[in-house]
Amino acid sequence: MIRTCVITGTTHGIGTVAAREIARAGYRVIMAVRDHARGQRLRDDIVDTTGNGEVSVVTLDLASLASVRDCAANVLAIAPNIHLLVNNAGMMSAKRELTIDGHELMFATNHLGPFLLTQSLLERIVASAPARIVNVASRAHFHGQFDFDDLTLARHFAGMAAYRRSKLANVLYTKALARRLEGSGVTVNCLHPGVVATNIIPANSPILSFFAPLAKKFMLSPDRGTRTLLSLALGTDAEDINGAYFNQDGKAVPASAAACDEALQERLWRLSAELTGAPLECR
Ligand SMILES: NC(=O)c1ccc[n+]([C@@H]2O[C@H](COP(=O)([O-])OP(=O)(O)OC[C@H]3O[C@@H](n4cnc5c(N)ncnc54)[C@H](OP(=O)(O)O)[C@@H]3O)[C@@H](O)[C@H]2O)c1
Repeated sequence: MIRTCVITGTTHGIGTVAAREIARAGYRVIMAVRDHARGQRLRDDIVDTTGNGEVSVVTLDLASLASVRDCAANVLAIAPNIHLLVNNAGMMSAKRELTIDGHELMFATNHLGPFLLTQSLLERIVASAPARIVNVASRAHFHGQFDFDDLTLARHFAGMAAYRRSKLANVLYTKALARRLEGSGVTVNCLHPGVVATNIIPANSPILSFFAPLAKKFMLSPDRGTRTLLSLALGTDAEDINGAYFNQDGKAVPASAAACDEALQERLWRLSAELTGAPLECR
């Protein structure tokens, strides 16, 4: 039976490399992207370069809960099995923006959207076990903090702090989900890809955009920055590891104290279920 992968955010950066390599490994790949036309062009290119014709595109805007629900329904309609889910898409912004659902943009795109997508696909993933979920977090999570009284960051906004909070949420969610998946045959892990020369530098920051071309010369290439992701997705080393945080060299390392705080993990889980309407328990 052909194995199926769902991967988000393949139109740029790490996701482009990852989708191609997962297709090369023989998976049926469903790419969930915001820019459908660009996704189709990438799809054609991946089919040409890998010889794997089982690559398709679905539309997903993680900043809209309605779009995430539609995407999940579309994926469930075309994928009888899901053996690998890669939550890769993410973004950084220098400005405070709220989504159509009223959530802070980075918290919504980097955490709430992936949370809802994963929870919506989870039953299918568990039924397809052995299966894996890979969440692209960041070492930025080490400085992340939650103020549950100011979720939209109305009192104080700083772009980097908002991004760090969203990446802390990725690690907290990974650990809370791993606990629930124990014994199911499904593992979930997260990773820091390294500092990688991609489009992640916010275009709406004049200073960062100015320095980006120079800074990129000192960053990892997207090929190198995809190594840990691919090892977690396809490799055998981490096959039985569940709930861990991996660094850019593919090693499981301790996550931040906040990320390992079970009470915080559970509080974020309840909040995310409430804000997205996802079921509180997953199986
Ligand atoms: N690059 C680094 O140094 C670094 C370090 C640590 C962690 N990370 C993480 O690595 C992951 C991949 O980022 P990257 O570095 O490859 O950045 P990138 O080049 O900017 O690619 C990000 C991808 O996410 C997609 N995306 C953004 N917002 C979306 C939305 N609302 N709905 C659906 N897709 C959306 C983008 O789509 P569009 O093409 O439509 O914009 C793009 O395909 C992210 O989770 C990021 O936080 C990156």
